[in-house]
Amino acid sequence: MGTARIAVVTSRGGADQDTDLPLILTALRTAGLSAQAVAWDADAPGWGGYDLAVIRSTWDYADRLAEFLAWADATAEVTRLWNPARLVRWNSDKRYLPELAARGVPVVATRVLEPGGVCEAADFDGPHGVVVKPAVSSGARDTARYEPGRGADAERHARMLLDQGRTAIVQPYLPLVEEGERALIFFGGTFSHAIRKQALLTEAGLIDNFRVPHPGAAPYRPSEAELRTARAALAAVPAPGDLLFARVDLALNDAREPVVMELELIEPNLFLSINPQGLEPFAEAVAAALATGR
Ligand SMILES: Nc1ncnc2c1ncn2[C@@H]1O[C@H](COP(=O)(O)OP(=O)(O)O)[C@@H](O)[C@H]1O
Ligand SMILES: [Mg+2]
Repeated sequence: MGTARIAVVTSRGGADQDTDLPLILTALRTAGLSAQAVAWDADAPGWGGYDLAVIRSTWDYADRLAEFLAWADATAEVTRLWNPARLVRWNSDKRYLPELAARGVPVVATRVLEPGGVCEAADFDGPHGVVVKPAVSSGARDTARYEPGRGADAERHARMLLDQGRTAIVQPYLPLVEEGERALIFFGGTFSHAIRKQALLTEAGLIDNFRVPHPGAAPYRPSEAELRTARAALAAVPAPGDLLFARVDLALNDAREPVVMELELIEPNLFLSINPQGLEPFAEAVAAALATGR
């Protein structure tokens, strides 16, 4: 067998912003693999020419979800795609959050509003206010927080999403994000490293689609409770054995217990420049995925 060829999948807009990308290419090459950055939406290579394609900075996927999922399905037909297309599809819609909750994972309370369904004023208020976001989103797009008593504004936001035919999510605002959100990163099911970052929705009542996505990201040592919650979340995904990489974003609830805010199985920033010790486990997970017949 010759040198295995790996496509590290990025996007037209993501390649320059992805600080993990050059580090990953170097780590894979150091591990004896042939690695190349390929934009899913621009380069149109023969994906079948690669032994494995690992999705990384496809950061425009939420705006073109149907196209992206079709790309994932088609690519998975001709090469090994990680994470698998089925999990990519499952993870692309935040309706997975109530699913995880139903499987006993501590998750931020999540109300799902469907276009055409009913919603009530009571859905839009709480002691710390609420957050409204689309079910399909990344980078806090079309997401805002509303202070207590601003339920009418929150409802208007949700109705705007629903009128566009989008599913909306309403959650209580977790004020302890202001002490930091955590992101725990796993490779091949094993914990690698974590970061903490500052809260994003600092200004209430505002949709801002140009936020810095991970303000103040810094290395972080998770607590046992955080590790437990993150592992429980990963164990509850439909095919837990099929995760090359995963990022579990956690925040503390009012009882200071970690709850899942988001599970990132598609194209998470892995924060490898501030945690370079994760590069080797990442490359090992790719090598292990190559060995599967998928
Ligand atoms: N319920 C919430 N309480 C506090 N902050 C929230 C809440 N939901 C979202 N946020 C803030 O908005 C950011 C983006 O929301 P998130 O659910 O991670 O969606 P995505 O990253 O997919 O756009 C989070 O990192 C967090 O700072
Ligand atoms: Mg997020």
